[in-house]
Amino acid sequence: MGLVLGIETSCDETAVALVSGSPGQAPAVVHGETVLSQMADHAAFGGVVPEIAARAHSEHLPSLITATLDKSGKTLADVDAIAATVGPGLVGGLMVGALTGKALSYGLKKPFLAINHLAGHALSPRLSTPIGFPYLLLLVSGGHCQILRVEGPDTFIRLGTTLDDAAGEAFDKVAKMMMLGYPGGPAIETCAQQGDANRFGFPRSLVDRAGFDFSFSGLKTAVRRTLDDLSTTQGLIDPVDAADVAASFQAAVSDCLCGQVAKALDHQDQQAGPTALVVAGGVAANGVIRAGLQRLALDQGLPFAAPPLRYCTDNAAMIAWAGLERLAATPDLHEPNAPIRPRWPLDQTATPLSGSGRKGAKA
Ligand code: KG4
Ligand code: ZN
Repeated sequence: MGLVLGIETSCDETAVALVSGSPGQAPAVVHGETVLSQMADHAAFGGVVPEIAARAHSEHLPSLITATLDKSGKTLADVDAIAATVGPGLVGGLMVGALTGKALSYGLKKPFLAINHLAGHALSPRLSTPIGFPYLLLLVSGGHCQILRVEGPDTFIRLGTTLDDAAGEAFDKVAKMMMLGYPGGPAIETCAQQGDANRFGFPRSLVDRAGFDFSFSGLKTAVRRTLDDLSTTQGLIDPVDAADVAASFQAAVSDCLCGQVAKALDHQDQQAGPTALVVAGGVAANGVIRAGLQRLALDQGLPFAAPPLRYCTDNAAMIAWAGLERLAATPDLHEPNAPIRPRWPLDQTATPLSGSGRKGAKA
């Protein structure tokens, strides 16, 4: 039961955690964790500014490591390995986290584990729930929207992905259109609480076709048009109309996610699992989407697992846990030369659908 120091700096959260546990045998013990959100630094820009993010990570990471050790009552000498996110994400932030982790590994003579941020999300449900491999995972965050079959700590089969925006990105963009602020997901969910989800029949793209991919661009355009129709000449919207748009949009996203997952579950070979339906990533914090997936799992007679809310959004406990999972599978793992990979798809064999360049697939 090693003690792993996890470092997460791939986007706009600087996070550190100290975690121990024996994957598949005992739940994780999170000895201490610290998350510093940069949301306020980016809010005025309506999205994450890479340069501001990288500077904030380098300013705060050292003191967050000290604070996490203090909270845990541990010292660096107690740490058995260092796990840091090396991709995918914003290159400046990744460099800060990965190089800090590598320097600690070198100084302490302890292994360095190069973690894929998406693998962190994908494995995070096992941190608190003893689900076995393989499981069907809906990974929904600001940058990713995929259905994956998780077969092991390093084995992911992609069944579906987005052709344009990630679900969280669609929430953020619609919130921006509605001037609800950033991040958009929680703002839309709050605005939708008093709204009528049936008032606007927004499109549910691709759900009635074969395959398990997603597309949110038609939905965004439909919301844009509706907002234009509802706006006064000063660009103002009645709060009741706004709540109805938010609720109808949220229902459409939820139907797209649940519809594609339902088809993917039907497509699975029942002999070979899956053992559970799992949701992870920032959008998994959404109550309507969580409830829809839970109903789906119940219908299929499958357990439903979602990480606790604080482990849905970016955090370092999931990075440390992914390190523990990989160490359990490969005890002598040490990756001091691992490159930083701004693009790093979980399923290396899947054909990229939403853009790929010299460095590989974006999603
Ligand atoms: O996983 P995450 O923290 O960061 C990455 O993208 O990796 O996810 C952030 C995304 C944002 O797009 C945010 O708007 C969305 O998750 N989100 C939500 C909710 N909370 C966060 N989307 C819908 N409903 C929410 N309650
Ligand atoms: Zn994330």
